Amino acid sequence: MTKKLVVGNMKMNLTLDEVKDYISKMQDYKDCVICPSYLYLPYFIDADFLVGAQNLSLYEKGAYTGEVSAIQASSIGVDYAIIGHSERRLFIHEDDLIVNAKVKRALSSKLKVILCVGETREEKNLGITKDKIEKQLLDDLVDIPKEDISDVLIAYEPIWAIGTGEVPLNEEIHDIVSFIKKTVKKEFHYTPKVLYGGSTNEKNIEELNTIDNVDGFLVGGACLVPDKFIKIIETVK
Ligand code: 13P
Repeated sequence: MTKKLVVGNMKMNLTLDEVKDYISKMQDYKDCVICPSYLYLPYFIDADFLVGAQNLSLYEKGAYTGEVSAIQASSIGVDYAIIGHSERRLFIHEDDLIVNAKVKRALSSKLKVILCVGETREEKNLGITKDKIEKQLLDDLVDIPKEDISDVLIAYEPIWAIGTGEVPLNEEIHDIVSFIKKTVKKEFHYTPKVLYGGSTNEKNIEELNTIDNVDGFLVGGACLVPDKFIKIIETVK
């Protein structure tokens, strides 16, 4: 079995002093991908971490104040880009058309994409989780070059599990991850790697790590605390 991937999504957290302290504590645990704010990417790159951007511009270049392009991220040594995170879909109103454009930009700059999909609590209660996820996958990946699909990882992040301490049952995660793999395979003749994200922490990682079709974890809150993140990295490796 190939190695599982642990990705830390730091979201809009940490000051520069905290980042420096974090890097010094993580020296022996670089077997992960760190996605800090853009500002701190060079610090992690200089310290030899694999890194990902939390977002990218949908535009190529030019007069788009405040934006950061895939070309720019790639030029400083960024390896991955998280695209379509539910917080951006919700707070910044990114729709599938925008997410699709960003996926294409990332791939054309040779970045690996971590495409986030997942259902709200309401959608789960209505029993339409798979419909929602299928639509997201098909719309977000429409017209991407077929040969680039191996650079796309999917992160299954149930929105109701993000930052809430609630986690789906292992069987539920297994079922959705299997559905995601089948859906992408049907379209692209390639089975993607799928990460799980949503309240993964140092306490539940042993249990979550037993799900045999999950290829890694996208960790939010728990990645901000070195001791907690190290426990997750050590458990998964
Ligand atoms: P939490 O681990 O804080 O629930 O966040 C998950 C997430 O959104 C990672 O992208």
